[in-house]
Amino acid sequence: MSINKGDIVEIELADLANGGDCVGRYDDLAVFVPGGVPGELVKIRITEKKKNYARGEIVEVLRRAPERVEAECPVSGICGGCQLQHIAYEKQLEYKRKMMKDLLERIARLEDPEVQPVFPAPHPFFYRNKAQFPLARDSEGKIIAGFYERGSHEIVPLDSCQIQHPLINRTMKKTLEILNDYPTLTVYNEKTHKGLLRHLVIRTGVCTNQVLLVLVTSGKELPNKEEIAERVMKEIPELAGVLQNINPERSNVVLGKETGVIAGRDYYLDYIGNVRFAISINSFFQVNTLQTRNLYDFVVDFAGLTGKETVIDAYCGIGSISLYLAERAGEVIGIEEVPAAIEDAGKNARLNDINNCRFITGRVEDKLPELLAEGKKPDLIVFDPPRKGLAREVIEAVIGVKPEKIVYVSCNPATLARDLALFKEDYDVRKVQPVDMFPNTYHVECVTLMSRVEK
Ligand SMILES: C[S@@+](CC[C@H](N)C(=O)[O-])C[C@H]1O[C@@H](n2cnc3c(N)ncnc32)[C@H](O)[C@@H]1O
Repeated sequence: MSINKGDIVEIELADLANGGDCVGRYDDLAVFVPGGVPGELVKIRITEKKKNYARGEIVEVLRRAPERVEAECPVSGICGGCQLQHIAYEKQLEYKRKMMKDLLERIARLEDPEVQPVFPAPHPFFYRNKAQFPLARDSEGKIIAGFYERGSHEIVPLDSCQIQHPLINRTMKKTLEILNDYPTLTVYNEKTHKGLLRHLVIRTGVCTNQVLLVLVTSGKELPNKEEIAERVMKEIPELAGVLQNINPERSNVVLGKETGVIAGRDYYLDYIGNVRFAISINSFFQVNTLQTRNLYDFVVDFAGLTGKETVIDAYCGIGSISLYLAERAGEVIGIEEVPAAIEDAGKNARLNDINNCRFITGRVEDKLPELLAEGKKPDLIVFDPPRKGLAREVIEAVIGVKPEKIVYVSCNPATLARDLALFKEDYDVRKVQPVDMFPNTYHVECVTLMSRVEK
């Protein structure tokens, strides 16, 4: 019996897949369903049919799982931001651990890997320190901000977002109110590429209560920008600065290359533990500040430093792991490709009076093999790559010199598992500790300790 787009069928949901959809089977075909809970019997409408799989949307939950909860957010069913809000938090953590274990077995081919229980976040809501709201006009012509609807480019208007920090929500609302006082301002349209205002980017220092607002525009001319910035800063005294970023590109990338200060300054401050950070708008900073401290404490614990070691922090961003480890190491060398982040890293070392770190601008694929070829012998390498994981040449260069320990911080279990498979001959996986940096979403962050196999 085959199914087609538009058919209504009943299926039992078996598991949660990487991506947050539930997966069930209909006549041996895998069917992916958002908004489900494993164990539920659901009536679905088929929305897409491919050769090897199908997708469906829930029409009715026929047998409800006990862990299904009422999502706190009024748009959780349509906004693509949170995939797991309808599942009790403790259960989300169990699913994330299982997902991690399955991938390590299936892709890294580790036998019965011991994955620790996921370390829960201190706050499952209002934790994000960074938001990028696309702008649009509603049917009454008012400027609105929101998120893209799941699987589309339609904007879902938002009054406040349940996972963004309250200061971000307040800044977003006030900024919109003020922008709406200037009826001649135009809003960018993705299809026609006409219009000025594209995004509001808002970042906040959770431990300092500072906030930075960026108006992203398609062109240079932003009428009344000084007046707008002055008014927003008056309404939100926590604002460290209001910036304009110019992004004329026809792409999904939010920030363009050029940023100017309209009022205040171009960075904000935050803390992880005792280390203070100045963060500029182009630099990566972990989005869950309070949980980052716990993440880094696992890195410290796994690193087991005595104060003498040479450490390489590959993909160092603004030097946050480097500076967190510095007082426990002999020397730390950070590598990062974004020049503004390296500038921030240097500033942050000075801000904290740390003198045993140096930072190199460049791609890890180039700079790490260069360092190792020059004879640098790290005792520990910390990897914290973007979602795509490590390039093969990076893994080969490391295996060539075999440092005693590697601590791999990953935000993508699938690429982590792929990379661990390539290290397998030379490194044993000692500890796998998932840390919930992104409650209510499917994302899993994980710290893995590997130690050299003595042959
Ligand atoms: C997941 S972030 C980690 C940053 C930092 N360790 C932290 O905890 O804040 C990854 C970083 O790698 C940088 N990056 C991405 N690809 C890179 C590459 N090929 N070489 C060097 N840095 C890269 C990004 O700019 C980003 O700062």
